[in-house]
Amino acid sequence: MKSLKELSIVFKNIFKEFKQELHNIHNLQKVDYCKSKYLGKKSVLIQYFKKIKKFSVEIKKKYSFILNNFKQKILENILIKKKDIKRKILENKKNIIQYDVSLPGRRIETGSLHPVTIIIQKILSFFLKMGFISLEGPEIEDEYHNFDALNIPQNHPSKNFSDTFWFDSNRLLRTQTSSMQIRALEKYEVPFRIVIPGKVYRYDLDSTHTPMFHQIEGLIIEPLISFTNLKWFLNLFLQDIFSTDIKTRFRNSYFPFTMPSLEMDIQNSEGSWLEILGGGIVHPNVLKKFNINSEKYSACAFGIGVERIAMLKYNISDIRYFFENNINFLKQFKKE
Ligand code: DAH
Repeated sequence: MKSLKELSIVFKNIFKEFKQELHNIHNLQKVDYCKSKYLGKKSVLIQYFKKIKKFSVEIKKKYSFILNNFKQKILENILIKKKDIKRKILENKKNIIQYDVSLPGRRIETGSLHPVTIIIQKILSFFLKMGFISLEGPEIEDEYHNFDALNIPQNHPSKNFSDTFWFDSNRLLRTQTSSMQIRALEKYEVPFRIVIPGKVYRYDLDSTHTPMFHQIEGLIIEPLISFTNLKWFLNLFLQDIFSTDIKTRFRNSYFPFTMPSLEMDIQNSEGSWLEILGGGIVHPNVLKKFNINSEKYSACAFGIGVERIAMLKYNISDIRYFFENNINFLKQFKKE
């Protein structure tokens, strides 16, 4: 058996080791492990308690003083450590946001599509059902695609600076999606049916005109497509967008790139007629450059004013409402 002095050194060292171990512990379970390591059945302490059992009361007292002292210090430290860990747990809990699941949720405002987008989607969906493909193209165009290739003469008034936004002597903001007829002809082999939605730009501003508006261009190149077929398509299209009892009429018109040409009007709730699209049989001068066999194929085209359709559909009196970004106005339009 070790002397009292030796024993007290042994336990001093064990205590040091214990302190070090406890310091690195941050959860309650590990504190309990640590406690049983130093005070439990298999601990050095218990072994010594067993050893001194057989000693005389006098000597036992002296030894057990060291042992009990050690045990006491361990218990105190364990207690402090546990309190410390519990306090930290509580502090962390306070920092975590407490959720009250019974509170009503915060509402997330759902956006809605712009009415012009809704109408474009409706129109496209009709034409896609009719076997058309859709294409998009550049808003910055050149003179060739926007005017010249469409048989628009050099001196045509629409080429004026007062009508068209020019960047330089060649480039401009397209004034019509008809420019895409040319790009479609460059891109695809005939026959095809194609629709092209997009923005167009003109110097204009009043209750029925804005400097930017939307058109949907259509081009059909097929064997034996006729003026009558075109009228049938257009009537069916308007019945799809509005209803079967909508009143429409065709008028003679003139466009440099179609011959014959038509314009189509629709009757509004007050009984007046509003122009919504132009169209016709594509002029031979337009097709000439593309080596299309005119014995075999004919072509018809149309250009729809999207805002006009939207104004009629939603009963909107001023085209400028579409572009004022007034949230209360825009909120009204939900997709059906
Ligand atoms: N591009 C014409 C316009 O902006 C509309 C138009 C007329 C398009 C006749 C066509 C067409 O494709 O055949 O006023």
